[in-house]
Amino acid sequence: MLKDPFFEPYDREDIAYGEEPSAALISYLNQVDGSGRALDLGAGAGRDSIALALAGYHVLSVDLSNRGLERVLQRAASAGVRDRVETHEVDVRNVEMPADSFDAIVATTVLDHISPEDSKILWDRMTEALTDKGVLYVQVHTTEDPGSDQPPGVFSDAPVSETAGAVINYFSPNQLVSWACEPKSRLRVLRYEERLEWDYTHGPEHLHGKASLLAVRAGAYPPWYGQPAAFPKR
Ligand SMILES: C[S@@+](CC[C@H](N)C(=O)[O-])C[C@H]1O[C@@H](n2cnc3c(N)ncnc32)[C@H](O)[C@@H]1O
Repeated sequence: MLKDPFFEPYDREDIAYGEEPSAALISYLNQVDGSGRALDLGAGAGRDSIALALAGYHVLSVDLSNRGLERVLQRAASAGVRDRVETHEVDVRNVEMPADSFDAIVATTVLDHISPEDSKILWDRMTEALTDKGVLYVQVHTTEDPGSDQPPGVFSDAPVSETAGAVINYFSPNQLVSWACEPKSRLRVLRYEERLEWDYTHGPEHLHGKASLLAVRAGAYPPWYGQPAAFPKR
């Protein structure tokens, strides 16, 4: 069996990626009542899984890192939501995802850890698996990342993540949102952003290029006021 490149980052006391959930996801969960089944693909040590469980979902956390999944269960127990979190050590490409089966699907920096062809196949399966009241949150590394072998990242001299070796598929500008806008995805985009961000959560501080997408089913209109929430009812 291949060595887990994420064992040490998840084994260390100061667990990689920290405990803060993805910003747009937690903003959504704070505004819209969550219930039903959630799937966290490439859950890592579970920062998004725990947020989903605390929001009321029954969560299936999937990852190839056994150490990460142990951390998910530890954190779920500490947060008092152990009964709402299940883990499965499996390749995201082999996860069972029947149509219309998950009310929240999260993939925070995992579509970029598999080949471009596989990531599109997985994306199509994810969008099929989302229920009509479902929410989808996806984040990927982009070609703006200094670890990318494409411009503009390839020209950057900013420091690169200690785990950059695991990223093999940097997304091009607009790629993720263009997938979301394909009619067959049947999504309505609530938020999309491409940006640079410094990461202080693991190893020496380093820069990232990221794209993040928050979407619901086309035709769904949850009470979403943005991130940060703009002009909610007082
Ligand atoms: C950058 S980490 C992100 C972890 C978590 N989503 C977060 O944001 O904190 C990427 C995770 O994807 C997992 N991963 C990479 N390729 C995978 C695959 N083919 N199947 C399942 N998990 C995978 C890694 O083990 C790692 O935990």
